[in-house]
Amino acid sequence: MVKMLQCLVVLVSLVVSVHGLDNGLALTPPMGWMSWERFRCNIDCKNQPNDCIGEKLFMDMADRMVEDGFKDAGYEYVNIDDCWASKERDSAGKLQADPDRFPSGIKKLADYVHSRGLKLGIYNDFGTKTCGGYPGSLGHLEVDAKTFAEWGVDMLKMDGCYADVKTMPQGYPNMTKALNATGRPILFSCSWPDYERASKIQPDYKLIAKNCNIWRNYIDIQDSWDSVLKIIDYYAQEQDTLAAVSAPGSFNDPDMLIIGDFSLSVEQAKAQMAMWSILAAPMLMSNDLRTISPEFREILLNKEVIQINQDPSGKMGKRVMQTQSHMEVWTRELSSNALAAVIFSRSQSAPAIFETTLENLKFPTTSKGYSVFDVTDNKPLGNYALNETLSFIVNPSGAVMFKATPIA
Ligand code: GLA
Repeated sequence: MVKMLQCLVVLVSLVVSVHGLDNGLALTPPMGWMSWERFRCNIDCKNQPNDCIGEKLFMDMADRMVEDGFKDAGYEYVNIDDCWASKERDSAGKLQADPDRFPSGIKKLADYVHSRGLKLGIYNDFGTKTCGGYPGSLGHLEVDAKTFAEWGVDMLKMDGCYADVKTMPQGYPNMTKALNATGRPILFSCSWPDYERASKIQPDYKLIAKNCNIWRNYIDIQDSWDSVLKIIDYYAQEQDTLAAVSAPGSFNDPDMLIIGDFSLSVEQAKAQMAMWSILAAPMLMSNDLRTISPEFREILLNKEVIQINQDPSGKMGKRVMQTQSHMEVWTRELSSNALAAVIFSRSQSAPAIFETTLENLKFPTTSKGYSVFDVTDNKPLGNYALNETLSFIVNPSGAVMFKATPIA
């Protein structure tokens, strides 16, 4: 009987591993660049040759990532979002890039991106059409997975427009299998739970985490602070469910970084960077790296903040405090018993003093207290016992982020 049970356990674990995502990718949140938020579905290459969805845009961004320090800071993926494809599949039923905008084809573009030491991402849709109206993958999952692998694609974002949401818990895992079957490690980003949420279906995050490396949970980010706040609200509301599935290989995706675009102030940009870091979120910038101003570039390149985002624990932080003065504190457990915290301000008033102790933030007891480092402004703050008061000045719609390491 025991033998039979043991056999069953082995069999079940085999089936699970064969059916699950098996690519060894995204052990820390993926970092890179994605076209959608900043460049949308601009297909007018005649009038806007530098800003349209075409091969030049992605080559330009790859160049900037390498030459302006983004690659060295960890940004790796150059991701094509919607509107890259031709409206028709080719005679063999394969997706093909729009020939005018991608005259060299996606394979050549992948070669170029790889030659710069980066990786290429692409976009498709689970339904009959992409959200922008280009050919969907329904009925073509295997051939599309093979095509992407042949082209040398390294990441796939699969959207969920024009699809029956109820079929997603079977359908997305079919794409996982098709990607696994290609033998090429392709990071898989699923929009599946976002479409379930929109249809008032509770996502099965265990199943999602088994099949996807990252997944969108909530509405699209727009170029506005209000949009950033809405996403943070949703993460706070769902934090227990979402934090439970954040781990190496599987991360919640609150959508792109809009730092360096038109709407965020410098303080708001620091706040988005700090929040995405504490949430263990993918760091996918959507901005114009050719014209980004130095203060935003510096925020995106903040090594200390990136290091917290990339902490190998893969844990997502949670909101642990809200004050009457519109401040919130979010904390995240890091490896080696360290912790990170963000003091996030929703105030529309003046810079304000915020005081707390590590004890108040529920940091675990240590024999000698913690050494505290302000990662937003890159300066050591000294050693603190659990009950000692820490004092910060937090700007309106801004954030202060610090790391606390137990003193050995
Ligand atoms: C959806 C997605 C966006 C983007 C667009 C493209 O709205 O959520 O991130 O990919 O489609 O059409």
